[in-house]
Amino acid sequence: MSDKPPRRIRYRGTHPRAFQDKYKEHQPEKYADDVAKVIASGKTPAGTHRPILVAEILKHLAPQPGDVAVDCTLGYGGHSLELLRAIQPSGKLIAVDVDPIELSKSETRLRQLGVSAESIVVRRMNYAGVLSLILSESPDGADVMLADLGLSSMQIDNPARGFTFKSDGPLDMRMNPDHGQPASVLLSKLDESELAKLLEMNADEPLSARLARAIKDAHTSSPLRSTTDLANVVADAIRRQKQDSDELIKVTIQRVFQAIRIAVNDEFGALDAFLRQLPLCLKPGGRIAIISFHSGEDRRVKRAFKSGFRQGIYSSISEEVIRPSAEEQRTNPRSRSAKLRVARKSL
Ligand SMILES: C[S@@+](CC[C@H](N)C(=O)[O-])C[C@H]1O[C@@H](n2cnc3c(N)ncnc32)[C@H](O)[C@@H]1O
Repeated sequence: MSDKPPRRIRYRGTHPRAFQDKYKEHQPEKYADDVAKVIASGKTPAGTHRPILVAEILKHLAPQPGDVAVDCTLGYGGHSLELLRAIQPSGKLIAVDVDPIELSKSETRLRQLGVSAESIVVRRMNYAGVLSLILSESPDGADVMLADLGLSSMQIDNPARGFTFKSDGPLDMRMNPDHGQPASVLLSKLDESELAKLLEMNADEPLSARLARAIKDAHTSSPLRSTTDLANVVADAIRRQKQDSDELIKVTIQRVFQAIRIAVNDEFGALDAFLRQLPLCLKPGGRIAIISFHSGEDRRVKRAFKSGFRQGIYSSISEEVIRPSAEEQRTNPRSRSAKLRVARKSL
């Protein structure tokens, strides 16, 4: 065995294409200039996440020094960092996320701000159960809360997590890989009609029945194990309809992946439980902001806020959904489908 330290792998070409090879983007603190160039080109650097609607969230949540702020979806920590800055001195940030892979890195980033250790509480947990954590840390509840739903760019872009059809990876899709069943196992358990229902309910898929049959037939004859396997089956099914537009194939694959991912992570179950508990999480006058990324999420948030408003639980709710500015959509295309709703708990 040689005693020489291992050399960094050299990549062919100047622009590595694979997620794990983009070593500069994975170290934004070290390669700030290169990362700034990636962002300026409208992309999200590998292994990072660009927070969305930050100014709008700060305006509506109006966090103050000394506040208790709760970030239910820590992700890379971009929103948390802004909240943490706004509530100093003497405020407390409680931040949770189900993803065990990114959590400690994001916590380290927050602690680099140099605030006291007790000002930051980070837990790996589902936000469906955040009420008990909030009450144990702050018995009167939270002043401001944020939930930025769905996936982080770190999760989407890493082929090993199995969320993207753009590169080959295991058909997994779990936000917490230590919990639940991967997408490939879910496909074995669902029958054709259950799968069709899931495609329709979770992604409004118009070809749900045909796609469910194609996926189940393929999976039964030879189990679909990778993201490419699933994407190819969907693409073939669309082509058999003599509808071989690339755009239709792409959006259909996106919808199928979205529908299955929502089921794998029970995303609607978690959101419904969270929305039910929300009034108990907030102090009187407390504010909540929720960013959603598709109609299934936004419908739930809208319905819960409207019903809470009618019952007098919330004193105000967004009349209209708040969208990223044209400039934000241009500079960060991943913000395009984001919809923000806010509510204030009655006094
Ligand atoms: C869009 S990202 C949040 C990005 C974050 N706002 C930022 O600035 O980096 C969504 C995050 O929510 C997490 N998440 C999704 N569902 C969750 C749940 N039920 N409980 C806790 N975290 C969840 C995901 O793991 C992911 O990290």
